[in-house]
Amino acid sequence: MNDSPFKKAAVIGFPLLHTLSPKLHGYWLNKYNISGEYHAVPVDPARLRDDVFKLRDAGYVGFNVTIPHKETIMNLCDDISVEAQKIGAVNTVLFHPSGRIEGRNTDAFGFITHARKAIDGLDVTRPMVLGAGGAARAILYALKQAGAQEILIVNRTIDRARALASEFDARVVDWSEKDDYLNDRSFLINTTSCGMVGQAALDIDISKLAANAVVYDIVYKPLMTDLLRAAQSRNLRIITGLGMLMYQAVPAFELFFGVQPVVDDSLQNYLLSE
Ligand code: ATR
Repeated sequence: MNDSPFKKAAVIGFPLLHTLSPKLHGYWLNKYNISGEYHAVPVDPARLRDDVFKLRDAGYVGFNVTIPHKETIMNLCDDISVEAQKIGAVNTVLFHPSGRIEGRNTDAFGFITHARKAIDGLDVTRPMVLGAGGAARAILYALKQAGAQEILIVNRTIDRARALASEFDARVVDWSEKDDYLNDRSFLINTTSCGMVGQAALDIDISKLAANAVVYDIVYKPLMTDLLRAAQSRNLRIITGLGMLMYQAVPAFELFFGVQPVVDDSLQNYLLSE
């Protein structure tokens, strides 16, 4: 154990049944011999304000934020990073010694860092994004920053797609017509919950995707989704979902505990183990 003071961080959400964040941060705390703990703290939306101040009073250095608090937490932040403002959500909160509460978002970083590490020379120029929820917002922001130009957004509820399209300068495609728009896409990204265990299947036929296209699925339960299997059977390059979770945690861990952690296969295997 090193001599630095004991530090506590957490993830808040509700009902917070399936979060991998304590396992992930716990792995790094152990690996880097850091004196600290990372807890899962269920926070009922009605108690958000009180519970956040309780964490501060209990000496936490900060916390991560998951569903359903990523937007409402912004009301409690004194300072919000430009990135989090543009994404419209906060996933990392810091309690500063001055008393100020700062909100950041590391999801866009997690997405693009992992995607670039996974695929050499990734072509982000012509992506199709499936979904228009919170995950899609961070991914659209990351894609724009990375130089995407002709973005297509496809969502079951077309009004949500339209709202995002005007914000991120993208075009909307009807959910029922998405297969027909795949032929010129360089990058297909599923940000919906479709394909996750217990959720509906993702209804898509990727036979029109070009041979050099890359397929990314944000779903990581199972890691090999039907979408990724279909892509693999066409010999397309694929990116699995756990990477975004692991890489979004890198800057958060460093902010909380002062060490930049490394993502590697043994971490992924550990997260996938029961
Ligand atoms: P998150 O913040 O994790 O992105 P979310 O805001 O609930 O979660 O968004 C979930 C996404 O999955 C949405 O794009 C949703 O489509 P709707 O906007 O139409 O709800 C999409 N989704 C969930 N179930 C779906 C289904 N059965 N078919 C198609 N899209 C689905």
